[in-house]
Amino acid sequence: MQHISDLRKAYQKFQLSENSISADPLQQFDIWFKQALEVNVSEANAFVLSTVNTFNKPNSRVVLLKALAQGGFVFYTNYKSTKAKEMAHSPYVSMCFLWHELERQIRISGIVNRVTREESELYFNSRPRESQLGAWVSPQSDIISSRDIIDNNMTELVLKYKNIEKIPLPDHWGGYRVIPDEIEFWQGRPNRLHDRIRYTKINQEWKKDRLAP
Ligand SMILES: Cc1cc2nc3c(=O)[nH]c(=O)nc-3n(C[C@H](O)[C@H](O)[C@H](O)COP(=O)(O)O)c2cc1C
Repeated sequence: MQHISDLRKAYQKFQLSENSISADPLQQFDIWFKQALEVNVSEANAFVLSTVNTFNKPNSRVVLLKALAQGGFVFYTNYKSTKAKEMAHSPYVSMCFLWHELERQIRISGIVNRVTREESELYFNSRPRESQLGAWVSPQSDIISSRDIIDNNMTELVLKYKNIEKIPLPDHWGGYRVIPDEIEFWQGRPNRLHDRIRYTKINQEWKKDRLAP
């Protein structure tokens, strides 16, 4: 078996230059995201979301991007989950996308806000029925005594809504929008001399800098 320290990959697919990158990082995200979809990056909309708890201890987990709208990145979750409690404590969050197939990483930091109930409802109504029921069934991040709790909750709920066409949006479930103030695009290059371009928002304008790899 290969030793961990022997694992290495040379990055050589693309380059990133100040001249070719968009002046607007959200537009640049959109360009890269479309390319990720074109080459079938596995779950290109999955990203690591980092929050901090009341002891300033960071906490990371993967969630799915569901929209890029109104100047921000939208994801959905349980409003009683650990991450929701942490975002209530501190609205400063960090997001990180890794697209191996393109040798790219995007890091975003910003401030998170809940989306409106109408926006959550619109998305919730577009989800498969089983996922809608799943939002009701799981007390996300709570300790549960066994898997049976979830499976039994699901069985009960399927029965409860058997003759009801529309599953209502739970009060404890909805979206968040991250309004970015910093976005960094990273393109892998040979010899670990990667390209990094970071946008920082200053007085409503995006400032672009190249960072050393
Ligand atoms: C690929 C992937 C996608 C996920 N998408 C979501 C999501 O969109 N929303 C969500 O609440 N949890 C999602 N999860 C589960 C979270 O990683 C996490 O387990 C859950 O949200 C509880 O996190 P918390 O206890 O920090 O609140 C996803 C996990 C993976 C691996």
